[in-house]
Amino acid sequence: MTDSNAAVLDRYRNVAVVGAGVIGSSWTALFLAHGLKVVVNDPRADIESAVKSDLVEIAPTLKALGLPSEGLEKNLRFEADLERAVSGVDLVQENGPEKPEWKQQLWARIEKAVPAHALLLSSSSARPATEQGSQMQNASRLLVGHPFNPPHLIPLVEVVPGERTDPQAVEDAVAFYAALGKVPRVLKKEIQGFVANRLQRAIMREACYLVQEGVVTVDELDDIVTSSIGMRWAVNGPFSSFHMGGGPGGLAAFFTDGLGKNMVAAWKKVPTVEMDDVLRERIISQTAASFGKIPMEQMERTRDNRQVALLRALGNAHASGTQKQ
Ligand SMILES: NC(=O)c1ccc[n+]([C@@H]2O[C@H](COP(=O)([O-])OP(=O)(O)OC[C@H]3O[C@@H](n4cnc5c(N)ncnc54)[C@H](O)[C@@H]3O)[C@@H](O)[C@H]2O)c1
Repeated sequence: MTDSNAAVLDRYRNVAVVGAGVIGSSWTALFLAHGLKVVVNDPRADIESAVKSDLVEIAPTLKALGLPSEGLEKNLRFEADLERAVSGVDLVQENGPEKPEWKQQLWARIEKAVPAHALLLSSSSARPATEQGSQMQNASRLLVGHPFNPPHLIPLVEVVPGERTDPQAVEDAVAFYAALGKVPRVLKKEIQGFVANRLQRAIMREACYLVQEGVVTVDELDDIVTSSIGMRWAVNGPFSSFHMGGGPGGLAAFFTDGLGKNMVAAWKKVPTVEMDDVLRERIISQTAASFGKIPMEQMERTRDNRQVALLRALGNAHASGTQKQ
């Protein structure tokens, strides 16, 4: 870790993770691997054993990323009482249920118990900070820090301030995530679903449509993605990809004479997809017939191994945050 990253993380030695399911336990592992002290608040009866077993699962990936992976539990504690959990912490990363009213009440309670300097971050996939903080007296330190699953591995964190977020808190959140090795990107305005999930949403609709129409099965569709746009987009985003697709004239030619012209015309005919019982059953049965039989832990291990290999192969391209030449 560089001295400047260590100096940033020094400001956030004590972190509360509120809600430690899929996302919260992954954040917990990453925070611990960076030497932060983590208190987990989650009412699940089995929370201690669940998080500890997740740490064991995630440890080989942390190691492969060059991070400490042993003895992480020494900086981990559990506190079922929310107010006690957040008292004295420097940062809260919230990963509870995706229910607007629940998040609103949670932040209103946290505000009364947390030190004034604490950074308040929500992992929410879709709920803006302005909405989440509507019951707070002072929402200046609240913003969304939306990771991509799993946060211990995928670089992106969408940093989305609300209307009342102090610009300093945005700067602090960006510095914090960057010091953890993430690629934080600030959204200029709030929009439901943020950016990456809106893109996934559009692609998933088309994927379901193609399965509904019988053009491909679910595993064929996955293969098509991982051997084409998945690879392409790990190196170039859609705009720079199509800039090259436009030839010497770049994007300008792409949209006026090239493929882009037809693409834009096709937007007017985007099919609506009804997730009815027939389609749901088709997707579930096709999944069961292919990767659905693989135990989830095995799938997650394979995903982590391949993702680490990809990150290594791409070297610092993500860390520098640019694919520009
Ligand atoms: N799963 C994803 O791919 C993903 C990706 C990015 C962001 N997110 C966001 O992260 C958040 C959590 O999602 P998840 O997939 O980890 O959900 P999850 O269901 O796996 O975990 C939610 C956790 O919150 C806990 N919880 C419930 N009530 C609580 C309370 N009163 N106090 C504290 N904890 C409580 C639950 O016990 C559970 O462990 C959501 O806001 C979601 O939108 C999810």
